Amino acid sequence: MTLRFFTLGMTATFGAAWLFAVVLPFFKTRELKPVPYVEAIDEKTGVYFPKRTGQITNGAMVYAQNGCYVCHTQVVRPTYAGNDFHRDGWAGFKAHPDRGDTRRESNVFDYQGEEFAQIGLMRIGPDLSNVGARYANAAIAKNAELKEKRGDAWNDSMKISPEEMLFEHLYNPRLHVDMRWSTCPAVPFLFEKPKADEVIPSPKPEARALVGYLMSMKKDDAVPASMNYSPPKPAEK
Ligand code: HEC
Repeated sequence: MTLRFFTLGMTATFGAAWLFAVVLPFFKTRELKPVPYVEAIDEKTGVYFPKRTGQITNGAMVYAQNGCYVCHTQVVRPTYAGNDFHRDGWAGFKAHPDRGDTRRESNVFDYQGEEFAQIGLMRIGPDLSNVGARYANAAIAKNAELKEKRGDAWNDSMKISPEEMLFEHLYNPRLHVDMRWSTCPAVPFLFEKPKADEVIPSPKPEARALVGYLMSMKKDDAVPASMNYSPPKPAEK
């Protein structure tokens, strides 16, 4: 093998990987064009505009600083690359009480407002693409259960919010007996020192930002059929 052949081979090998993994995706996602709805299929006109609210930029930074991306992904895979739809609450809900089947794949617009798309390294913990939607549901279920248990003693000030449930998880993922198995690391340093009988001390601004970011993850809004994994066909309606 000549040096010339070796150098060319190395350049081609690394060059191809660089081209397909870095250069092409960069140019494909650099200038995103709005995706229009097709009236005949989507039953609406205009363009898709993803809505996302919360402390996204600050929260994303706290998420990155604490290495959450090592164990949690934020990507519902395209169906050809391994289906995630059967995992309850990951891609959306199969039977959302108001909106029916809300499941969909991740798309580039899902990472709006973030400097980096933290798609994650491993799936030691569950995917977090729809963690905000899951906690919103969990809080509704939890409140119904508490109301049932307390009976006449119940009043609305006893309600627990999804944010409070997330603070609980962050401060101590193993707080509840049925979660003693959890291997999610606690981040108590994002909270103040607990006062005398406090179970969950008040969160610092970093914890608030992180929870705002987690609650913003409701990536199950309806997308144009052209972006959907299995769009309804016009004839089926
Ligand atoms: C060592 C791996 C690991 C790291 C790092 C990690 N987690 Fe977890 N996480 C898990 C595991 C495992 C679970 C499942 C058990 C549970 O629910 O407690 C989980 C569960 C969760 C849940 C509940 C998800 C659900 O839908 O019920 C949230 C929220 C969460 N983690 C947030 C975080 C945040 C925020 C960070 C960064 C501060 C983080 N995790 C870092 C492993 C990890």
